[in-house]
Amino acid sequence: MEQTTSEFEWHTGRKTPVENPAIEFVGVKKSFGRNEVLSGLDLALPEDRISMILGPSGTGKSVCIKHMVGLLYPDDGDVLVHGESVPSMPDDDLFEMRKKFGVLFQDGALFGSMDLYDNVAFPLRQHTDKGEEEIADIVNRRLKEVGLTESGDRMPNELSGGMRKRAGFARALVLDPDIVLFDEPDSGLDPVRTALLCELIQEIHAENGGAYVVITHDINSARRVAEYIAVLWRGKIVESGPATELFESDNAFVKQFLSGESHGPLGME
Ligand SMILES: Nc1ncnc2c1ncn2[C@@H]1O[C@H](COP(=O)(O)OP(=O)(O)O)[C@@H](O)[C@H]1O
Ligand SMILES: [Mg+2]
Repeated sequence: MEQTTSEFEWHTGRKTPVENPAIEFVGVKKSFGRNEVLSGLDLALPEDRISMILGPSGTGKSVCIKHMVGLLYPDDGDVLVHGESVPSMPDDDLFEMRKKFGVLFQDGALFGSMDLYDNVAFPLRQHTDKGEEEIADIVNRRLKEVGLTESGDRMPNELSGGMRKRAGFARALVLDPDIVLFDEPDSGLDPVRTALLCELIQEIHAENGGAYVVITHDINSARRVAEYIAVLWRGKIVESGPATELFESDNAFVKQFLSGESHGPLGME
C-alpha cells in the first residue's frame, strides 16, 4: 500500500503579498514542552480588512492571538504589529501597544460582579482619565451599536450567550482600537445568532475601520465575513490570501477544509 502523504505536502505557503500589514508573523516557532504548536509560522494580515484565521481545533489559533498581544513569546522568529517587534518591546511600550487592541475572548470574558454598563466602562476607567460624563457617552454609544441599549443594568449571568458576546464586543471597542481580535466569536452560538453576530462584525467594521482578525473553525462564518483568509494546520499556514482566491484554491487541504467535506487530507489526522 502506498502511503506517501507527507505532513507538509499541503503547506505550499502560497500567499498573496500584503502591503503594509497590520500584523506579521515571521518564522514563528512555539513549543510547550515537547508539543510544537507553531513550527515556522509566516503570516501577514492586512490593514483595514476583516481577516480570518481558520483551522481545526487545537491547531494553535488562540496561541497566535496571544503572540499578537504579547501574552506569549515566540521561541524563534518575530511577531510585528504595525512593523514593531512585539517580543522585543520593553514593558512600557508593550503596555502602550496593547491599547491598540480590542480583544473579544471566547465567552465575552465579562466580570461577573459588574453590570453590563460597568463592564463596558471598565477599560475607560482603567486606561484613560476621562470623566464619568464622557465615559457615559462612549459606553451608551457602544451599547447601542451592539443592540444592548436597554441592558446596561443587567448582570452578565442574566444574559444569553449571544448578548454576552455582544457586550464583550462593545467593551472591546471602547478604546477605539486599531486592531480588534475575536477568538471564536461563533462558539456556542446557534446558526442564526452566529449569522447575526457576523453581520454585526461587518457593520461595526464598516463604521470604524481597522484591522479585524477573527479566529474560527466555522467555515460558514468565514464565508460570510472574511475578506482575507489564512488556513492554519500543523503549525504553519497552508495558504493565505484574499477570500475569493482561497475559496477557489486547488490545494486539496484548503479545498477540503473550506468546503467542509469529510474526505480529504484532513481525515488522515
Ligand atoms: N499555556 C499553554 N501551555 C501548554 N500548552 C498550551 C498552552 N496554550 C496552548 N497550549 C497547547 O497548544 C495547542 C494549541 O492550542 P490553542 O491555540 O488553544 O488551539 P486552538 O486552535 O483550538 O485555539 C494545544 O495542543 C494546547 O494544548
Ligand atoms: Mg482557541
